[in-house]
Amino acid sequence: MTKRSLILDCDPGQDDAIAILLALASEEEIELLGITTVAGNVPLALTTSNACRICELAGRPDVKIFAGASQPLFRKLVTAEWIHGNSGLDGANLPDPSMPLQAGHAVDFIIDTCLAAEDKSITICPIGPMTNVALALMKEPTIIPKIREIVCMGGAIKELGNTTPAAEFNIYVDPHAAKVVLDAGVEFVMMPLDVTHKALVTPERLQKLKDLNSPVGEVCGGMLDYFNRFDMTRYGFDGGPLHDPCVIAYLIDPELFKGRRVHLDIETASELTMGNTLADWWGIEEKEPNAYICDDLDVDGFFDMLTKRLARIKA
Ligand code: RIB
Ligand code: CA
Repeated sequence: MTKRSLILDCDPGQDDAIAILLALASEEEIELLGITTVAGNVPLALTTSNACRICELAGRPDVKIFAGASQPLFRKLVTAEWIHGNSGLDGANLPDPSMPLQAGHAVDFIIDTCLAAEDKSITICPIGPMTNVALALMKEPTIIPKIREIVCMGGAIKELGNTTPAAEFNIYVDPHAAKVVLDAGVEFVMMPLDVTHKALVTPERLQKLKDLNSPVGEVCGGMLDYFNRFDMTRYGFDGGPLHDPCVIAYLIDPELFKGRRVHLDIETASELTMGNTLADWWGIEEKEPNAYICDDLDVDGFFDMLTKRLARIKA
């Protein structure tokens, strides 16, 4: 598998934070070209400063971070402090960052990076609402042939939603952006709740992260102690779901995951089912498949890889 030239678009968020750390710890498979931030779990100013906090934790103040959209394309911003805490990284206890933000808007970074690249060479991973990626595609459609794959965390296929019964948070917050990205015709891979709800940070797995005896292990332990409680209470899970790191793990070792190519569409009209990700899982309508959707993973293999990679960060 050729190395990924990655733009990671995120809304940290504890699980985004672990996705960033996993990407930074995986230089054999991933060249992180830059991080773009979007309003989602918490407002943009916080998702952006949180991305900086995590890169500084990893000893990587050199990472290029660009702030992006502060609200969805058309809808009012919905945030998730009820899950992530008011800081968006409750449990991390990290100091305010000192690393500089890059000048310029995230959307322009995505466009400029793609335009300067070879065809099908850039991987974009939206792990928050897809507002930035949609704006880049709308502003400069000539970037489409430059994109190798878009691998996102979002949606719910056979699972119910986690923000409404019909919709998962990232898609619910900006369903119009998600549809722009899906309809752009780029290779599209989705990690929905169907797979991320199997990536549960059980107490045993959490203890292995805490036992790393490093600042990264301590911060991940604190973040997950806080982040786990919501889903464990709501769903009765024996751990919290590590949604966003599934996307990075797929880039590192796609064999960890199972799924199928199906036709996918996204609800952008009905308030009742706004943001629903409707996949024709059984090929009933015989529409052309337009997405590869994962619904299973080797969960022990995922956590073994995650823990070993995070152990590499000694900063
Ligand atoms: O529904 C889970 C997704 O919404 C994750 O990406 C989480 O970070 C939030 O953005
Ligand atoms: Ca996220």
